[in-house]
Amino acid sequence: MVDDGLSGSARDFRVPGGPDLLTRGDAFHRWQDGRRRNGVWPYSRATESGPATACDAYDDAGRAQRGVNFASQDYLSLSAHPAIAAAATETIARFGVHSAGSAVLLGNTSISVALERRIAEFLSMEEAILYPTGWAAGYGVIRGLVRSADHVVLDALAHTCLQEGANAATRNISVFRHLDLDHCRSKLRSIRAKDAENGVLVVTEGLFSMDSDTPDIIALQQLCREYRATLLVDVAHDLGCLGDDGRGQIGIQGMLGKVDLVMGSFSKTFASNGGFVATNKRAIKEYLRYYSPSTTFSNALSPAQTAVILKAFEIVGSTEGHILRGKLLENVTFLRNSLVERGLEIFGDPSAIVCVKVGAENLARVVSRSLPDMGLLANLVEYPAVAKGSARLRLQVMAGHSRSDILHAAECIRKAVDASVDDLMHAAGRTQAA
Ligand SMILES: Cc1ncc(COP(=O)(O)O)c(C=O)c1O
Repeated sequence: MVDDGLSGSARDFRVPGGPDLLTRGDAFHRWQDGRRRNGVWPYSRATESGPATACDAYDDAGRAQRGVNFASQDYLSLSAHPAIAAAATETIARFGVHSAGSAVLLGNTSISVALERRIAEFLSMEEAILYPTGWAAGYGVIRGLVRSADHVVLDALAHTCLQEGANAATRNISVFRHLDLDHCRSKLRSIRAKDAENGVLVVTEGLFSMDSDTPDIIALQQLCREYRATLLVDVAHDLGCLGDDGRGQIGIQGMLGKVDLVMGSFSKTFASNGGFVATNKRAIKEYLRYYSPSTTFSNALSPAQTAVILKAFEIVGSTEGHILRGKLLENVTFLRNSLVERGLEIFGDPSAIVCVKVGAENLARVVSRSLPDMGLLANLVEYPAVAKGSARLRLQVMAGHSRSDILHAAECIRKAVDASVDDLMHAAGRTQAA
């Protein structure tokens, strides 16, 4: 029965009023609970088995689910790799479980220092600095470098960590249409027409996490040079897993070592929490160490996390890594083809992120509700995370998925969409009749 929980969005509760902060969550919670009761709150699920390709989970109302898992971010399937697990346990035996300090105050280990070197080498940059998460890196690099008189020019779909970093740093924020170089140029031109004194940071991603598309990084860097701006590229979703050598879009576009600032996350391909910023200037690394609050005043990655990431870099750079990337791309191509053959619409270019367009939020919620019962775990992405009316299922492919996992996913989605369209039509018919 399709009824409640299908209207409204999280956006409706972003700016609640009233003097009592402790009531701020009430209206949101009521709305969320309506969705939960109707089985259309697919968020905050928990797994019983880690991010495996088939996964036991339960939703946040406690209902058990089991299915093929396209909802985890583990693109090269490294989180279950035996060498990664061994690196973690050996490191815990040697260093214990905790960094027990920020990188500034004895939170570094010989492994974290080696990891910073490895990241810089991998990207052909001079320096890299670690952050506790990718989010902290995106936020922190902007907050650390940009001051209130400076400007930030963001791609419209830049990740929330980049938007929040910009909001915390300055009011001078401009947004250009997604991937639109001409619009970016016109923003830079009008900023520089009025302000030759202050800094300008242009922010984009190597691979966008909802649309799976990519900017022209060469042209953006060139544009930045023209207008004395600095380019920051977030490579969270492409580093390690995309491109022949795993250097992501920066490598594919021949820009290794040539982008002003590169930031990334380890949580998609490198089997751990954590993030980094890479730069060609030691002075920038040192400045961020002491002026970027999300690293300066936050405990460093744990020794086990740094060892996992370092081992993941070793695998990513090896023949095995090359084979895993090949397997991932095969899986991505097979999934995209299987979806299209079934008349489903997908976004963007081949990458580990395969988003299937559903459209209306109510339909997408009903589709997403039916998937676990059919044996598929996939994430629902809806407004305001994406534009209104552009709700989608986001599937994140792993090297470890099998062909039958992929066929199963495509079949489930086709069936779920058809059944949900029928469901909603019947519900609308009943409402009209009543
Ligand atoms: C583009 C992008 N940047 C940064 C992050 C934050 O990374 P993390 O989850 O490792 O904190 C994410 C994660 O969702 C992301 O998609």
